[in-house]
Amino acid sequence: MSEEIIDSRFLQTCDVSIGEFRLDPCTMVIFGGAGDLSRKKLLPSVFRLFKDNELSDGFSLLGFGRKDLNDDTYRAMMEEEVKAYGEELYNEGSWREFSKRLFFLSGTFEEDGNYEKLREKIDGISTPDGEGNRNVIYYLSVPPQVVPLLMEKMTYHNLCRGLFSTKIIVEKPFGSDLPSSVRLNKILTDAFHEEQIYRIDHYLGKEPVQNIIFLRFSNTIFEQIWSRLFVDNVQITVAEAIGIEGRGGFYEQTGVVRDIVQNHMLQILGFIAMEPPVGFRADFIRDEKVKILRSLRPMSFDHIDRFTVRGQYGRGMVHDANVRGYREEEGVNASSQVPTYCAGKFYIDNLRWAGVPFYLRTGKRLKKRVTEICIQLKRLPLRLFGRTCDSMEPNVLVLTIQPDEKISLRFNVKYPHANNQIYSTRMLFSYREAFKTAEHPAYERLLLDCMRGDLTPFVRQDEVDAMWEIVDPIIQRWDEIIPEKFPNYAAGTWGPHEAHLLLEQEDRCWITS
Ligand SMILES: NC(=O)c1ccc[n+]([C@@H]2O[C@H](COP(=O)([O-])OP(=O)(O)OC[C@H]3O[C@@H](n4cnc5c(N)ncnc54)[C@H](OP(=O)(O)O)[C@@H]3O)[C@@H](O)[C@H]2O)c1
Repeated sequence: MSEEIIDSRFLQTCDVSIGEFRLDPCTMVIFGGAGDLSRKKLLPSVFRLFKDNELSDGFSLLGFGRKDLNDDTYRAMMEEEVKAYGEELYNEGSWREFSKRLFFLSGTFEEDGNYEKLREKIDGISTPDGEGNRNVIYYLSVPPQVVPLLMEKMTYHNLCRGLFSTKIIVEKPFGSDLPSSVRLNKILTDAFHEEQIYRIDHYLGKEPVQNIIFLRFSNTIFEQIWSRLFVDNVQITVAEAIGIEGRGGFYEQTGVVRDIVQNHMLQILGFIAMEPPVGFRADFIRDEKVKILRSLRPMSFDHIDRFTVRGQYGRGMVHDANVRGYREEEGVNASSQVPTYCAGKFYIDNLRWAGVPFYLRTGKRLKKRVTEICIQLKRLPLRLFGRTCDSMEPNVLVLTIQPDEKISLRFNVKYPHANNQIYSTRMLFSYREAFKTAEHPAYERLLLDCMRGDLTPFVRQDEVDAMWEIVDPIIQRWDEIIPEKFPNYAAGTWGPHEAHLLLEQEDRCWITS
């Protein structure tokens, strides 16, 4: 007899297909609209959305910053940036149409008169929606130290909640530790309500990250095995082959834990480990993630000393080219102690995951660029096939986020003809082959979600706080004790020897696909 399938009582919230969704007119105001992020990521992403017909007819974009630009020179500047992407993105006809929606306001954020000009400019270029509201999205693409000033001025000039119907997108970093994150949040929430604030972590715009909850909660096979009963360990790897790309000043202040672990890695861990949400709504999903982050076992200094590994790259070979060590990079102190690599063992103290180690590792100048989650299952308790069982590989589910978006499952089969010979093989699902898509551009997806008012792929403040609570002790302990032998891994390798020992001492090893 088939079992009854019950509808979620919140089903209607996820039942609107994208095709049916009509976006209201809106104006996106980018503070720092001529800065690096705007030129390299934001404008190209908005242009692609325009080309794909995803924007509303009443869409306009206003860059605001102190570069000496006007509407025409801003359009010309951005055209060059988009052209640099090649024919895949640039198209003269589309650009001509799109550029009519681009505007620039030149001036400093300090000067009060500029906010009056800003209001007038928004009034001039925005299109009211059916109810007469002017929808405005502010994008803070500015250095973090500028944010308090902006919030103060925008509040004073009634730009946050009064004149327009507004949302605000905030870029990381969300502080540099828990106290500074709390202070920043107070400044933001004095100006905007929490539901107006879209904290961006571009990893959450990646299709395979969003797919984690679909994979988990729509498949009987995965839903059933997803716990300490079947899982031996979970590994999350965020490996970069690139170095610090000329951002020495930034990296010296940041280091690997603040740059990658505190945000991207802990967010991925949240999706992997969370309980099913009560419905498919932003806050239900964020509630579950925050429960996981709060269930992570606080790390004592003893645990940090024994079960975390830090590293810094020296010279080496990446993709057949000689590369400099971290201390030789521009803007980096010649005796810098800043870590570019981190590995660690974490535990989630809840009923589902009690006792299952979660191993995280990330670093710059590693052997290759890959972001991957490996879920290794427990071995079967019976050696049925004699000696061949000694070499039998455990089942591993691998979710690859980048560079290829794919899922693979490792399992064992009988090798043909041979006696009792076991052969490890895998089933592979590739997004690109199945759906004929390229790597999905995260910023486009996130900008659209913000326009639609969907907060699901954005981070709530209690998540940010919980993530700082986890990493602050690691940063503090590492700051206290000077590393003995930095640099301790050569560029182009898989990181320090100690990171391998971390797993080997527990009879495990890092899995790489
Ligand atoms: N770049 C990336 O790939 C990237 C990636 C992830 C996150 N982010 C985050 O995105 C934000 C922006 O980064 P970014 O790399 O784009 O920085 P950026 O290149 O320095 O851009 C900031 C822009 O803001 C303008 N600006 C700064 N202070 C101002 C003031 N007082 N008045 C008027 N204009 C002012 C700057 O003008 P000037 O040009 O005249 O200085 C510049 O054009 C940061 O929070 C960063 O952490 C960036």
